[in-house]
Amino acid sequence: MSDVAEQVQTGALWRTCVDLGTSASKVSVCARAQDGRGPFLHPLKIGSFTGEPNPYLVQSAMLFDRDRIHFGIRATEAASHEECISELLQSFKMFLAARDVEESLSLKLKRTTDPSNLFTQRDALTLYTAYVLSLTERAIKREPRLSNDAHISQRRYAYPIWGPDTKANAVVARLFDEAQAIVTELGGDLVEADSLAFEVARASLDRARSKPGFGRVEAGVFEAQAASECHFAFATEIPEFVLVFDMGAGTTDFASFRRAGDGAARHLEEILVARRTLALGCDEIDNVLVAMFIDKTPKASPASVKRAFWKRLKVRARQLKETLFREGVCHATSQGKKMTIRLNDLYRDKGFRDFKASLRGAYQDCLSRVLREALAAGAQRVDVIPAGGGAMLPFVQNMLSSPGATLRGQMRLRVHPNIPGWIENGDDADRLGPIFPQLAVSLGGAIAPLRPSEAHF
Ligand SMILES: Nc1ncnc2c1ncn2[C@@H]1O[C@H](COP(=O)(O)OP(=O)(O)OP(=O)(O)O)[C@@H](O)[C@H]1O
Ligand SMILES: [Mg+2]
Repeated sequence: MSDVAEQVQTGALWRTCVDLGTSASKVSVCARAQDGRGPFLHPLKIGSFTGEPNPYLVQSAMLFDRDRIHFGIRATEAASHEECISELLQSFKMFLAARDVEESLSLKLKRTTDPSNLFTQRDALTLYTAYVLSLTERAIKREPRLSNDAHISQRRYAYPIWGPDTKANAVVARLFDEAQAIVTELGGDLVEADSLAFEVARASLDRARSKPGFGRVEAGVFEAQAASECHFAFATEIPEFVLVFDMGAGTTDFASFRRAGDGAARHLEEILVARRTLALGCDEIDNVLVAMFIDKTPKASPASVKRAFWKRLKVRARQLKETLFREGVCHATSQGKKMTIRLNDLYRDKGFRDFKASLRGAYQDCLSRVLREALAAGAQRVDVIPAGGGAMLPFVQNMLSSPGATLRGQMRLRVHPNIPGWIENGDDADRLGPIFPQLAVSLGGAIAPLRPSEAHF
């Protein structure tokens, strides 16, 4: 048995959970507290070394531009320079959602993303994972509440749409092994150097492929289950029926659970008929916003100007959307012309209204499936757990608590606040509050009890 496996069995080990999000990656740690009491569960400041706007979030972005690879916020910044010739690589997590994962990973990156044609989708995922693991090691060392041996923690990762038995899980464990070899070889370079040379990355990837390291992957945890475990991590009681609504950047995931077992054996059992993934998330609002700005450009503008404007908007879209929801208005400039979009303009847009209708339809569908189960079991209430960055949006909060005719007065609905009580009372509540829904998956994944099929060792 490996050292790590042995320590897992004796319960002496720390555990991190990596949530490679479509827009932002997060890592949380669950550890035995220094004073020996209760578990210490906290997100890690993996974004604090590289100038990410929020220390707990690292942008899931890479840029393969003119012989150098950039990661996270540095990729986004480099992509907005005039002289940049490549498109920013985002949403790479979706490479794993393909029906044939091996085939998807073996594909070369699009030429517009990697004009050198040197890297595959698998390479991109492996390098980005190595980057996040490097940041994680640093964040653990800097966290005063963790002891020095935390860097040998076992690792979990959160998995989205695919099931626990699918090939993707084996692939992810292997990617972590290869990423670990790269972390060991390149060490601080991944984080300290502003970018990585193509040939250094290529050589390191090839060596890692033939001689992987030990990624210490204990298990994958289903994202939606992780989100609900996060809310009930320190609760004395858990509700009988739970519907998780996780609206991330790329997808909106619905999953439902029923309480099972008693005492220490209590756990959440999934109601499989109420699982659903909508291939639309916050990115769709970004797309609508970009299209609205492009519509505002003068009809006579040359195609090259429109294209350059579109490229700049794509890189800034998330930021523009967040400003729009925070301040009620956002602006962009093309050829000296300032354009303005207000929240009401967005709400009136057909693309946005269609998106909202799809979201509501999926929510009503899943809710009615859970309700049927709950009614049959004689329950009187269904609890809704909001998660993901989309949970911060006012129209989403509104929709969750007013699902329309679905309830038909037969059942009570309790929509939980975005932040569970255990963190509300903690010392970090103010800083974590606005981003808590984004952190819920990594936090819950670090503390969740495992289903036997999820464990890797
Ligand atoms: N206050 C806010 N206002 C508007 N949008 C927000 C806010 N906070 C976060 N978002 C949006 O939430 C999205 C990120 O959410 P999250 O981190 O849950 O997604 P993800 O985990 O990266 O994606 P996925 O789960 O689909 O892989 C981004 O589109 C971001 O702009
Ligand atoms: Mg997510």
